Amino acid sequence: SLLATTSIAKIADYADQTVTLSGWIHNKTEKGKLIFLMLRDGSGMIQCVVFKKNVSEACFSQAQQLTQESACRITGAVRADTRAPSGYELDVQEVEIISLTQDYPISPKEHGVEFLMEHRHLWVRSSKQHALLRIRAEVIAAAQEWLNAQGFIRFDTPILTATAAEGTTNLFGTDYFDLGRAYLAQTGQLYVESGMMSFGKVYCFGPTFRAEKSKTRRHLTEFWMIEPEVAFAEHADNLVLQEQFVSAIVQRVLERRSEDLRVLERDLEPLKRVVPPFPRLTYDEAIDLIREKHHEVEGCLPLAWGEDFGAAHETLIAQQFDRPVFIERFPSAIKAFYMQPDPDRPEVALCADLLASEGYGEIIGGSQRIHDPALLEARIREHGLSIEDYRWYLDLRRYGTVPHSGFGMGIERAVAWISGTRHIRETIPFPRQLYRLYP
Ligand code: 4AD
Ligand code: MG
Repeated sequence: SLLATTSIAKIADYADQTVTLSGWIHNKTEKGKLIFLMLRDGSGMIQCVVFKKNVSEACFSQAQQLTQESACRITGAVRADTRAPSGYELDVQEVEIISLTQDYPISPKEHGVEFLMEHRHLWVRSSKQHALLRIRAEVIAAAQEWLNAQGFIRFDTPILTATAAEGTTNLFGTDYFDLGRAYLAQTGQLYVESGMMSFGKVYCFGPTFRAEKSKTRRHLTEFWMIEPEVAFAEHADNLVLQEQFVSAIVQRVLERRSEDLRVLERDLEPLKRVVPPFPRLTYDEAIDLIREKHHEVEGCLPLAWGEDFGAAHETLIAQQFDRPVFIERFPSAIKAFYMQPDPDRPEVALCADLLASEGYGEIIGGSQRIHDPALLEARIREHGLSIEDYRWYLDLRRYGTVPHSGFGMGIERAVAWISGTRHIRETIPFPRQLYRLYP
């Protein structure tokens, strides 16, 4: 039974006792009368030593039959060993085979990334992927728990929606019975704004979808976003909230997932510096900086005012700073329709992108929202959207409207940065991209 087995993560509590572990064979080496079994159970790994003279003949033969990824139950005495990775070894007394694996496709030798992606359902068992996905789980838990502790309420938003929020060019559509078209949510923001009017501080968290036709290492067609929204908060408050949020997440990963960061050979120094305040740069200052220093990054060309940044521009800006940097007040024309214009300069929006350090690119997009009903309606029309579709959203400005702000952090972008993984495809169990829908 499950109760009779111990988890490898808890092995230190069982020193000098006999335990039963259930798991899979990560690796096996035979040296005459000795068989070394590296057992993993999801919580950790431990070396199990089968010494011919300590076990029955049947047991030794069971151990001999085990192959990579065979499942088994092993009973033995827990012995401290400073040379072992976990600090402990198991002196095996009993081996019970649960299932034997033949020809496991992912051998310890090197494989190409295409091959590994085709076998993603198996690849998630390997040490590096295991570490990455554990960091992902920690980032998600840290983000939600931090917001909960600050008094935010989780407010779930729909995935099937009738309208676009982040432009109409990358929408996934599907037929929706007699009501015509439905679209997969690009963001939960518009709906979470309704929650903000009910609870004051809310967040939504879930998968979001964008039909990205570009093949880059930063874009998925399905990604997870956490989106806090705060009533009465203005642009400056929004930036402070973001730097506290990001710093809390990074510091918690450093604290609790140091073993996984070690497996990934992540340089910890840049992460330790992720503490508020983060530098702030206006879009105008960023344009000047690019003009001055564009030769520092290959493929980085100067931009005219009004143009949007590419990956090379973000890399150039990020490398001027030792921690994440905000770029604020972008031209309204290149941002979403709902952003509040700067009262002193209506051609720019009270918004910011947060660029991760070390060239990992934008991890957060956020803004103050338009709270004036007439202005919001005008913007919806200017963007060629139908007022009828946004009637409910306009209601939020008709009944008790207040200045408010929020932002969205892409979980995969954050995990790629924190774990030091260049390609976003390894930061989610099953990445969805232009050319990838299997497995
Ligand atoms: O900047 P974006 O488009 O902002 C919004 O969607 C706002 N409605 C959020 C808000 O204010 N509540 O996206 C936010 C973040 C980006 O900074 C990035 O981290 C991530 O979502 N993101 C993607 N991640 C992976 N693949 C993609 N295709 C992504 N598009 C955006
Ligand atoms: Mg953005």
